[in-house]
Amino acid sequence: MRILMVGGGGREHALIKALKKSPRVEEIFCAPGNGGISKDAICRPVNPMDLDGIAALAKDEHIDLVFVAPDDPLAAGLVDKLEKAGIRAFGPTAAAAQIEASKVFSKNLMKKYGIPTAAYEVFDDPAAAVEYIREQGSYPAVVKADGLALGKGVIICEDYAAAEDAIQSIMLDKKFGASGNRVVVEQFITGPEVSVLAFTDGKTIKPMVSSMDHKRVFDGNRGPNTGGMGTISPNPFYTDEMADRCMKEIFLPTVAAMQAEGRPFKGCLYFGLMLTADGPKVIEYNARFGDPEAQVVLPRLESDLVDIAEAVIDGRLDEIEIRWKPGAAACVVMASGGYPGSYEKGIEIHGLDDMGQVEGATVYHAGTAVKDGKFVTAGGRVLGVTATGETLEAALQKAYDAVGHISFTGAHYRKDIGHAADDLTV
Ligand code: AMP
Ligand code: GLY
Repeated sequence: MRILMVGGGGREHALIKALKKSPRVEEIFCAPGNGGISKDAICRPVNPMDLDGIAALAKDEHIDLVFVAPDDPLAAGLVDKLEKAGIRAFGPTAAAAQIEASKVFSKNLMKKYGIPTAAYEVFDDPAAAVEYIREQGSYPAVVKADGLALGKGVIICEDYAAAEDAIQSIMLDKKFGASGNRVVVEQFITGPEVSVLAFTDGKTIKPMVSSMDHKRVFDGNRGPNTGGMGTISPNPFYTDEMADRCMKEIFLPTVAAMQAEGRPFKGCLYFGLMLTADGPKVIEYNARFGDPEAQVVLPRLESDLVDIAEAVIDGRLDEIEIRWKPGAAACVVMASGGYPGSYEKGIEIHGLDDMGQVEGATVYHAGTAVKDGKFVTAGGRVLGVTATGETLEAALQKAYDAVGHISFTGAHYRKDIGHAADDLTV
């Protein structure tokens, strides 16, 4: 089979490395890919948001299966476009991708179908939003832009002044553009967070092994939110009982709700959960693999990803068995100096071999380029250094050993990935 991966980050690199294990795969293309991905796939400089360009590339290269990995082309209808052109694609339609692209849609869906989530109100009038927060007088207050915002559209406001600022920047200054035309003001809830990615064909849902993201930039969960500074799998807070409960209270009802709304979800559905004292609640849905969750989940996949993708597309996920490796995986993200703020690009990366790898780990490239035969930085998150092991400790040890062999000017990474797992009472 000839495969096209749409996207160009660490998640896409992890998907490509998983696909390469399939004996059914002959050639993999990636649009646009990155420096590290170019060692595993043929990269083509087509922007994922150029829907016609992607469809033309798929036709020209006689692609049998397209994976659409990022959120924006899914929301913009790339899968719909490919399907119309007779090209098989893994990922939800635009109508189904609304579950991520509009928080108002997803919150209303959860309310309508009784899926547990934090209490909320929706506002399209900034003055009314501010007035509501003042009347509630309960802090922190959680303000969320309705639309996609590069993972930065959620603001936790410690007091009234911060809430006023949040509403100002989202709704009036339009920091995230039209994504801020409406906001969700949500009750603040607490508890360990769990990411569960699941394959679904719109009827059947098969959760993957669980994981834990580390969203804050600094050790001890301090500093601003990032796209994700590291992950572990499994998530030690997610017991078998909790998994059963989430299946009954959240996963099956979500799939049924999307079906009932006439938007059957096919692809990878991501549940961002919080395990509160009142039970598990949905913090957010994503319509795609998480990044860097994919980097710890996919290395544990034993079954053939192509077989799974075809079963999802054809609506026969109930017929296949998906096997996972026992043990654990850990991913440490190495980021550019200044990230998640502004940062320089084009800095040489030392310690990688010709394939962009180091011994003892798998290096998923998130933001790299190849210049004069050398790897250089080309993004905020640069590398996801990942290892598997029999235990979480072993996986973390191997991942951090590998990080120790890699360097670039300004590089920073969290030293405490997986440490929250030390205290299961958090
Ligand atoms: P999101 O982009 O929706 O995943 O939100 C980013 C982060 O904000 C989440 O991972 C949580 O840590 C936090 N968060 C979102 N919603 C709430 C909430 N209702 N209460 C407490 N924390 C929240
Ligand atoms: N790591 C969180 C996300 O992919 O949205």
